[in-house]
Amino acid sequence: MEERRKRIFSGIQPSGELTLGSYMGAIRNWVALQEEYDCLYCIVDEHAITVRQDPAQLRRRCVAQLAQYIACGLDPEKNIMFIQSHVPQHAELAWILGCYTQFGELSRMTQFKAKSQQHADNITAGLFTYPVLMAADILLYQADLVPVGEDQRQHVELTRDIAQRFNGVYSDTFVLPEAFIPKLGARIMSLDDPTAKMSKSVPEGCINLMDPPEVIMRKFKRAVTDCETAVKYDRENKPGISNLLTIYCAATGKTLAEAEAAFAGQGYGVFKPAVGEAVVELFRPIREESERIMGDKAYLESVYKTGAQRAQQLAVRTLGKVQRKIGFVAR
Ligand code: TRP
Repeated sequence: MEERRKRIFSGIQPSGELTLGSYMGAIRNWVALQEEYDCLYCIVDEHAITVRQDPAQLRRRCVAQLAQYIACGLDPEKNIMFIQSHVPQHAELAWILGCYTQFGELSRMTQFKAKSQQHADNITAGLFTYPVLMAADILLYQADLVPVGEDQRQHVELTRDIAQRFNGVYSDTFVLPEAFIPKLGARIMSLDDPTAKMSKSVPEGCINLMDPPEVIMRKFKRAVTDCETAVKYDRENKPGISNLLTIYCAATGKTLAEAEAAFAGQGYGVFKPAVGEAVVELFRPIREESERIMGDKAYLESVYKTGAQRAQQLAVRTLGKVQRKIGFVAR
């Protein structure tokens, strides 16, 4: 009997533009995974509204993000690509799972603590239960692996705990998922503070996938470095240059040793624009393809509608099973 291919679920919030960090830390890996796994790639708009969003922006970003996923090489035939709010089972399962999650567990989530500080005037119940919705995303599809950045590991661990608890009470229902943090997943730091992760919430230090070349070049030229001149990798003492080297290598496919050798004795004045150019060239075809796809609204609509249908077929099975087990009357 042929074994079922392992299933993957991941998502990115449409709360800002896709960045160099999302490309190198996530999407590039997703493209590699689509050949070997059954993948669902989601645009998690319901997570995005845990902090205030502008409606017109949110709508535009959801569709643009889908176009950019495709332009990056994600194939809507090979993967199920969809918008979270189009599959109502996410919210339904989240409600149920919330009843199997402890207040104390959610209070310990690092991201909740950080975000509730950032949005101190708007600490909603949604922000607090965000990890429960994420658990629903993952468990609904019986995902084996969840490619995420290190910062999301805690949420995947919580998902496992919730699944295990539910299975313990009602017999096996959910596959226990694992965080999948690919080695390739270069961690890209902010250009204006190389000790912080590159984040769409800090636009100055952040390169967007759709930034025009001159903007990319300007941001790299301004990147914070140290006051030496040697282009050498040293995370501890030279975080800025090390981050730029990571980006350069990821963009060009060169090894660290090759990159260091190429810029030996040349100084930052040569190196910084070279990193900028490497990223400009990496993103040029993606930006052009995204723009082309954005012009084809009918195609995009057919992709997200088909994606939601395919996702829903899987989602209803899990949700039905859950509802039976907990004792809801069959419809
Ligand atoms: N919380 C994730 C992030 O901010 C996004 C996300 C939502 C997600 N649901 C998910 C990631 C399910 C993986 C699986 O990065």
